Amino acid sequence: MSTTFTLDTSTSRANPTPAPMKRLTVPAIRARKGGEPLVMLTAYTVRMAQLLDPHCDILLVGDSLGQVIYGLPSTIPVTLEMMCAHGAAVVRGSYHSVVIIDMPFGSYEASPEVAFATASRVLKETGAAAVKLEGGAAMAPTIRFLSERGIPVMGHVGLTPQAVNQLGGYGARGRSDAERAKIIADARAVDDAGAIGMVVEGVVEPIAVEITQAVSCPTIGIGGSAQCDGQVLVTEDMLGLFERTPRFVKRYGDMASFVSEAAAAYAAEVRARSFPTADQTYAPKS
Ligand code: KIV
Repeated sequence: MSTTFTLDTSTSRANPTPAPMKRLTVPAIRARKGGEPLVMLTAYTVRMAQLLDPHCDILLVGDSLGQVIYGLPSTIPVTLEMMCAHGAAVVRGSYHSVVIIDMPFGSYEASPEVAFATASRVLKETGAAAVKLEGGAAMAPTIRFLSERGIPVMGHVGLTPQAVNQLGGYGARGRSDAERAKIIADARAVDDAGAIGMVVEGVVEPIAVEITQAVSCPTIGIGGSAQCDGQVLVTEDMLGLFERTPRFVKRYGDMASFVSEAAAAYAAEVRARSFPTADQTYAPKS
């Protein structure tokens, strides 16, 4: 997919003007069960959305933005306002991918009605196509309630970071028989409730495989299995922006070194008065 750019003369910034294209739809994503693997990455900003969009099927505005963008200790403090602001930016920066937005902790768990109010606000304020929520069987009535009222919902089972205080950390799940049975029952309940897909995070691999075979909707693995119907990573982890990343992350770049080296070069040139040069300054009219 190619993207051309037009120059906004008032800001001198190049804005992508993609070839006319139809955005992928939720039914098209659901129909990918067992087919070509779904490519999903997180995006929080317009420019990152523009860069990722041509390569992805789904852009997830994850509540991981709490840690990645805001330096928060977990996803617990993330607010609905943050999700809506970043969600709208990602929709503005994308033309092809389905945009899905995480509902933040505390904004949907109390009842299906509360979840409907939150999810409808998210879709109205952002233009995204679907929401994601964490939880298994306990969230199934909510997933059904929203789905039956026109709001597509992606589930999230296994390691659910919003439950970090209950889980006691971010370790892989499903090492005991009881935990394994619970995670698989959760996945079945989310599927039966009408989820358009589900993130399967941080589980021992056979569980991710079993869930993928057991459910009718696509599974998107993160710390799951290559046999899931798709994969997701936090983009900044994948780009190597952080020194430490979880075991399931593969780094496809070294953005931390790139940024540090560029900043060091800039700082040295500013201190040596070798930036700006004639190329970056305005000459008076002759
Ligand atoms: O918040 C997030 O980025 C997520 C992904 C890790 C799946 O939920």
